[in-house]
Amino acid sequence: MIMLIDWALRDVSLLGHNGRVAPRVLSEPKILAGVASTPTLSRAWRALLCRAKSSFKRQRPMQHPVLSQKAARFTESVIRGMSIEALKYNAVNLAQGMPDFPAPPDLKAAACRAIESDINQYAVTWGARGLRQAIAEHASWHLGLTVDPETEITVTCGSTEAMLVALLSLINPGDEVILSQPFYENYWPDCVLAGAVPRFFPMRAPDWTFDPDELAAAFNDRTKAIVLCNPNNPTGTVFSRAELEQVAALCRKWDVIAITDEIYEHIVYDGRPHVALASLDGMRERSVTIGGMSKTYSVTGWRVGTMIAPASLTHAFRQVHDYVSIGAAAPLQEAGAFAYRMPRAYYTKLSADYQSRRDRLCSALLDVGFDLVPPHGAYYVMANIEAFGATDDVAFARHLVRDLGVATVPGSSFFHDKALGRQYIRFCFCKQDSTLDAAIERLRKLQVIV
Ligand SMILES: Cc1ncc(COP(=O)(O)O)c(C=O)c1O
Repeated sequence: MIMLIDWALRDVSLLGHNGRVAPRVLSEPKILAGVASTPTLSRAWRALLCRAKSSFKRQRPMQHPVLSQKAARFTESVIRGMSIEALKYNAVNLAQGMPDFPAPPDLKAAACRAIESDINQYAVTWGARGLRQAIAEHASWHLGLTVDPETEITVTCGSTEAMLVALLSLINPGDEVILSQPFYENYWPDCVLAGAVPRFFPMRAPDWTFDPDELAAAFNDRTKAIVLCNPNNPTGTVFSRAELEQVAALCRKWDVIAITDEIYEHIVYDGRPHVALASLDGMRERSVTIGGMSKTYSVTGWRVGTMIAPASLTHAFRQVHDYVSIGAAAPLQEAGAFAYRMPRAYYTKLSADYQSRRDRLCSALLDVGFDLVPPHGAYYVMANIEAFGATDDVAFARHLVRDLGVATVPGSSFFHDKALGRQYIRFCFCKQDSTLDAAIERLRKLQVIV
């Protein structure tokens, strides 16, 4: 008996810090209960023993699932995961779409000036006025949109937040959202978080475009929105005006909102124009145009995104955004006002430089034995791996990163129906020539290894 009380008190003495006791130190609760009811114990001792007993109860393993049903549906981002593998195996990272060259010096200087002039506190939650003004000017000449910076623009923490905010603000549980397949990896988790039911329309190789009938078949009276990435990650498709007209007609017919991810708006090749869906007839009032600084100004780590939408939608977006993140980094927004007013020559050079990187990588990949059609926009290429006898994109990508030292993204991570992506891997080419050359040199070993 004395020993039992001693054990129990040792447990109780541990309760002091935070009321928690490591379960392995705790005594059996039944024994504690027995001890606590022993008539010879004083009231104080009994109280201590009861505390020990209830603490033991608190330490029992959780009876209910800890994670929400939404969180339990997620897996880690394959793209970001491949970047971690690249570090681990000292591989050339052609997986995650982040440039390895510096941002424009003038832009960096503008950010430094903003910090030097003590722009250190929260900006207006929906975006610093100067930046919104600059975004409106840019949208006018580049997208052909007349935008009121006071009521129709929201600045977010990257376009990633913008997409989530749009869906959280528009979707009721069970509403359907149309996605292309393949699609940029984030859209499916965004739909899950918003409670949307995704429906897919296929974009098929080799030119990665869609069949109008298959697109039309995805619409019905439960459709709330379509998410369209243009220029497209991962396929590099730049939708023509005629294709966008088909999307627009369906949006009007079914009273659907178009959420366009135009983060690669300035990265288009071979003279292809970038057309904003919102600029087509009757689309401005039902479009959310998402963009950002990450890709156009080579500052993926700055986390400045933009949403252009009618005032009624923007009002809701701003509220949701406020509670999600309050706002993007204030000094970087200040620099953004400088960025969006860059001379047009900046943008011409940006796409010309990317076109030369595209040509460098794509011709080398064809030479090595991959099958692909060079993309018309964005900075990715989907490469078919069947010529190497490969049938499993994940195993193939793992082989590339671990044995050859080149990180890519398995194609299936862009598909809901994983089988459709098994014969592809995605390369990105937002890299210096020397990086691309190093990757190519390593890839040349493929022919003999596989
Ligand atoms: C299609 C697409 N949208 C959004 C993002 C993320 O953009 P941000 O850095 O603005 O969040 C990426 C990044 O790779 C992307 O490819």
